[in-house]
Amino acid sequence: MSSPDDVATTIDPVGRPLPVFPDPEPLASHGPARIIALCNQKGGVGKTTTTINLGAALAEYGRRVLIVDFDPQGAASVGLGVNPHELDKTVYTLLMERGAQVADVVRPSSVPGLDVIPANIDLSAAEVQLVGEVARESVLARALRAAEAEYDVILIDCQPSLGLLTVNALTAAHGVLIPLECEFFALRGVALLIETVEKVRDRLNPRLRIDGIVGTMHDPRTLHSKEVLARVLEAFGDQLLHTVIGRTVKFPDSSVAAEPITSYAPTHAGASAYRQLARELVARGDAA
Ligand SMILES: Nc1ncnc2c1ncn2[C@@H]1O[C@H](COP(=O)(O)OP(=O)(O)O)[C@@H](O)[C@H]1O
Ligand SMILES: [Mg+2]
Repeated sequence: MSSPDDVATTIDPVGRPLPVFPDPEPLASHGPARIIALCNQKGGVGKTTTTINLGAALAEYGRRVLIVDFDPQGAASVGLGVNPHELDKTVYTLLMERGAQVADVVRPSSVPGLDVIPANIDLSAAEVQLVGEVARESVLARALRAAEAEYDVILIDCQPSLGLLTVNALTAAHGVLIPLECEFFALRGVALLIETVEKVRDRLNPRLRIDGIVGTMHDPRTLHSKEVLARVLEAFGDQLLHTVIGRTVKFPDSSVAAEPITSYAPTHAGASAYRQLARELVARGDAA
């Protein structure tokens, strides 16, 4: 049990007072979904890890969650126990085949309430094939429309690029969540990412906004982890979320086990961190 005194003295990793994020209220019914694109054109920053574990944490809180794997590497699919490499029906089918429905391509994960639309290398062809389509930027948005009523949150795990697939994710989304590795050069490229988000908002999707920046792979023992977060705070203020994800080998371990950390190591600090991220987003109104 925490007393009010504990609350007052609790601070986040950049020294701001850490609010209490209450457990989300149970939902009486589901949908319409809020769509969040997890975006950063840098690879290896924790997009896929955040998609999987935030999705699993929201599902634990009773939310119906759909993860859209939107990276031809298929890491989100694999991490959720779906081997996409021998599947015929993937997000590629949904994008490119006329009449294809979400129901044709969606799969359950091992986590109750968490479904996934898998991706594999076929998706890399879509990037090229979409160029010739009418309204090529909004193909994913249209394809997901029918699923919005069934889910509370849809998370899109983007590939590390700002190409046409990512623009499709941004056009479909209400919000963008930017995972940022607490590492030197982490901020390099973020300005370009934000510029891309602003262009998509101006030209294609006026509802789009940046939900926040989440620090990942944070090591409180290193000075530069702290310095990186301090610089993000300076540059982006309250867009830097209070929740910061620590660096731990439990994340790669849980990927190998093809499970979210919330079920692979449910009491580990990494699992608690993603549950806190889920509660913080709900408290900010960024997730149902
Ligand atoms: N907080 C963390 N601590 C330690 N390793 C992490 C953490 N988050 C992600 N990783 C590992 O770093 C690698 C890249 O993460 P990933 O989520 O795949 O990044 P991205 O999708 O941005 O390329 C993976 O091997 C993953 O297991
Ligand atoms: Mg990834």
